[in-house]
Amino acid sequence: MSATSLSPQTLNQPIQMSIQQTIGGAIDDLMASLPSPERLSPDQQRAIISRYTAVLEGNFIYWMTGAYLAVSSEQARRKILENLLEEVRDSHPRMLRKFSLAAHAIPTDSDAMAIDRDLTNVRLFVGKLSGVRIVVMMAFFEGFIQKFMAYLAELAAAQGSAEFEYTDVHGICDITHTQELFNALAEEMELNPPEPGADLFEGVDLLRTLMQTVIDPAPVKNWVQPIC
Ligand SMILES: [Fe+2]
Repeated sequence: MSATSLSPQTLNQPIQMSIQQTIGGAIDDLMASLPSPERLSPDQQRAIISRYTAVLEGNFIYWMTGAYLAVSSEQARRKILENLLEEVRDSHPRMLRKFSLAAHAIPTDSDAMAIDRDLTNVRLFVGKLSGVRIVVMMAFFEGFIQKFMAYLAELAAAQGSAEFEYTDVHGICDITHTQELFNALAEEMELNPPEPGADLFEGVDLLRTLMQTVIDPAPVKNWVQPIC
């Protein structure tokens, strides 16, 4: 990943479109790298759901809260707050717990440890409270989750589950979330641009690595091409 330098003078629509295209490409690459569910053993299928749950259940709202604390623009705050309200009001962590319970995939100690290092890296990145870069990361994540839901549901069905509220809700509503985050990004880039030389995609890289570990925690992870 190459670093991307930005100044207020260059923060314009073409760059925002470029970011959106780069994120779209990263999501497509990650989706294309997923192993076919039918080629996975039942335990491999279960473990993907478990690791995903270990990452998302206790962290998504925390990351989005970090984004809220980091941004400066009214539009970004409002969009992120809408996301947070929906997450808490409809208890998305409860939905995910129901989903993994029905698939017999509640995370074990080894599931949690498999994602620990990469999860820590994302947490430390969020702690930098770099507004634009967190919004870029969350836009990537929202877009990825929306596309990942059908795959996750397929894994759960293979485990004998018929509980799909979580995947149904996130396969639809997060399309809106993704676009809202891109809209918020535009204003945030003007009011609170990242420091010169900052790598806009650092959070995307870290989160993509974490998702690769969710899918396959093997130590050598060279099966997805770098974004650029
Ligand atoms: Fe959610």
